[in-house]
Amino acid sequence: MSELLDSLVRASVRSVAPYVPGTTVEQARRRFGLERVVKLSSNENPLGTSPRAMAAIRELETLHIYVDDDYRAVRSLIAQRAGDGVALENVLLGHGSNELLAQLFITFTEPGDQVVMADPTFSLYRMDARLHGVEAVEVPLRDGVHDLDAMLSAVGAKTKMVIICDPNNPTGTQVEPEAFARFVQALPERVILVLDQAYREYMTAGVEGITYAMNRPQTIVLRTASKIYGLAAVRFGYAIAQKDMIDWLLRTRLPFNVSAPALAAVTAALGDDDFLRQSVAANVAGRAQLTAGFTQLGLTMYPSAANFVAVAVPMSATIAYEGLLKQGVIVRSGDGLRMPQRLRVTIGTQLENATFLAALTAVLASEAPR
Ligand SMILES: Cc1ncc(COP(=O)(O)O)c(C=O)c1O
Repeated sequence: MSELLDSLVRASVRSVAPYVPGTTVEQARRRFGLERVVKLSSNENPLGTSPRAMAAIRELETLHIYVDDDYRAVRSLIAQRAGDGVALENVLLGHGSNELLAQLFITFTEPGDQVVMADPTFSLYRMDARLHGVEAVEVPLRDGVHDLDAMLSAVGAKTKMVIICDPNNPTGTQVEPEAFARFVQALPERVILVLDQAYREYMTAGVEGITYAMNRPQTIVLRTASKIYGLAAVRFGYAIAQKDMIDWLLRTRLPFNVSAPALAAVTAALGDDDFLRQSVAANVAGRAQLTAGFTQLGLTMYPSAANFVAVAVPMSATIAYEGLLKQGVIVRSGDGLRMPQRLRVTIGTQLENATFLAALTAVLASEAPR
């Protein structure tokens, strides 16, 4: 890299590395010459995409006109489905929920502010903080769960935001609703509360983020179409908050940030309750299958409320990850997720889960002390 260009880069940007996504199917194929690859690394929906959403994308006839930047129809649809008195003006759309997260930092933080978050949690929070010259105050999980008391103690005069990831990536654990209610009660009003609920649809019960957003002004909930709706590749997320907060965020939004294919797909997917139900049911069954498989192998996992599990392995996570990859199963090594000696595994179809469990059995056998 050129030294001159290096010197021109903003200092906060110099301090971050690019986001590292999970291994792709193509990368695994190329590296090991594999034919069949099972990808359980990015918490995507193993059932694919809602057929209605796929049909809506195929039916698009033109793309040469900019979308209506107001996005009224989809925002109303989201508001309607959210209930809780949510109206169109409480909904903001993003190019994935990641964009909305970045917008929160751009809109509300100043260099020198602090943002309180869990450790480990979704790595993008820390990365966004660094990029914006904000100090990430990272509070260790307790038994894999957000330690809300410790997070509250970490809130100080410089705290601008607190981010709660529920269910938490990479552990899959959820926050206990009563503990959360107490936490919110004690949180100073001036602190922005961000609830990232990318996996909320998989939870049968838990914190009702939207209710909090509608009742506490400095609160925002992030949701996504990337997970249960099976639309990770179209990039669509949304935020729900009170109107004042949405209005500030509208100032930092790029025009036309949601594409026409995303709008069409999401509109159809939001109405596909059958697909949603099937996805939840497949996840429940898959989680039971993995839990039973781990028990047989003598392994433990954190209780998961999401579509992935964090299983403890009796070896280096990266060695286990590599051993699985060689057999055509892609998972995430906990080493890169600040979760050593664990793997993060997306719950797949019954066949994918069985393939993974068989591969894991072989890895454990090959690594066992002889
Ligand atoms: C906690 C969390 N939030 C957000 C996202 C990504 O959301 P999107 O695809 O909507 O940008 C993920 C994806 O892995 C996630 O785990």
